Amino acid sequence: MLFDEVKIGTEILKNRIVRAATYEGMCDKDGYPKKEYVELYGQLAESGVGAIITGFAYINKQGHAMQKGQAGIDCEDKTEYYKRVTDIVHKHNCKIYMQLAHTGRQTREIDINEEVVGVSNKKSFYFKQTPRVLTTREAHSIACDFVNAAIRVKEAGFDGVEIHAAHGYLIHQFILPYLNNRKDEFGIDKSTKIGTKFLELIIDGVREKCGKDFPILVKISGSDDYINKFTKNQFVNLIKFLDYKKVEAIEISYGTMDYALNIFRGTIPINTILNVNPMYRGTNTFYRFIWKTVFYPIMKQKIKKFTYNYNLSFSKIAKQITSIPIICVGGIRKASDMKNIILNKEADLISLCRPFICEADIVEKIKADSEYVSKCINCNLCSVMCDFGSKTRCYNRKGEK
Ligand SMILES: Cc1cc2nc3c(=O)[nH]c(=O)nc-3n(C[C@H](O)[C@H](O)[C@H](O)COP(=O)(O)O)c2cc1C
Repeated sequence: MLFDEVKIGTEILKNRIVRAATYEGMCDKDGYPKKEYVELYGQLAESGVGAIITGFAYINKQGHAMQKGQAGIDCEDKTEYYKRVTDIVHKHNCKIYMQLAHTGRQTREIDINEEVVGVSNKKSFYFKQTPRVLTTREAHSIACDFVNAAIRVKEAGFDGVEIHAAHGYLIHQFILPYLNNRKDEFGIDKSTKIGTKFLELIIDGVREKCGKDFPILVKISGSDDYINKFTKNQFVNLIKFLDYKKVEAIEISYGTMDYALNIFRGTIPINTILNVNPMYRGTNTFYRFIWKTVFYPIMKQKIKKFTYNYNLSFSKIAKQITSIPIICVGGIRKASDMKNIILNKEADLISLCRPFICEADIVEKIKADSEYVSKCINCNLCSVMCDFGSKTRCYNRKGEK
């Protein structure tokens, strides 16, 4: 069943394996895709994957991430560059969705030359920057920027958009009661205890401007690691909301960038982090020593261990509530698990990120061997090195240097 067709909206995907959104680091400083960006997606499509979700693309300059090589879809003239990507992907009968994002408080003024804004003035303890609170009018304007970006995505020939409402980025900031203390129309709903108004404006706007046949996928986090964390009830209410909005698919991930490693799980490459992460690399040896010996052991206690299929419990809950296709992402490594997840209807599609970074031909391997296990060892160097302006790649294949 893993290699059976599946429908997203009115379109048919040739199998149920998705390449999860993965920052590429292959765009120029203005967010235009370079040649290697086009080549990457050509290779991935050729690998036999059913669908690809691009790395997060910023919808306006203010929503740019800390990473310099991020893709942008913030202006009209970028559309033709992405046409090269969709053309090459479609040659291989593969679908491609562009992920749209605004970072909100999860970025730094020093990196983006823009004021950092947020749903409230609560500072992210990872990014250490107090955001300016968005006015109601500005929130409306950003929702319009998402819609305009989606129009460009459609013009560029993508098969749909994935709205990034996970990992602590702006839309997620609106959803979370821990962050959203607004008293305006974008505040937390009293009955559902979540803030969906901003996401609703975006979904409605994309539907209106791109048409009902243009698929909208939404990536969400099942929970997070704040003291006042997202509860099961709130998660259920979010799924019910997306069911009501009839989005075409829901991808379920975890967490926020405040505990970034809980999104990924696995090894904490602390020395590389201290050397390459912009938050630490400019600091003096003493500060780094203190960080490593005092703060790091505290932080480590909050970091979750890698377990296979670590977001599957959320996926199973979602499957009880909605008939919208559920895409499960996070720690899926074994072909046998992939098969069982689909067979047992615990998700409709499975999504892989690091396994594709590690082995571009993983789909063929899974197809050939039902007991295949990804060579990815979750060393997380691929994610940490994103902060260094490097192209995303594998640094540590199992058994290889
Ligand atoms: C290098 C790297 C880049 C990533 N970039 C994105 C991104 O642009 N958007 C996103 O939603 N998630 C991103 N993620 C998270 C993945 O999509 C996925 O949710 C997470 O890695 C867990 O899946 P995995 O165990 O298959 O790697 C990234 C992860 C890695 C390792």
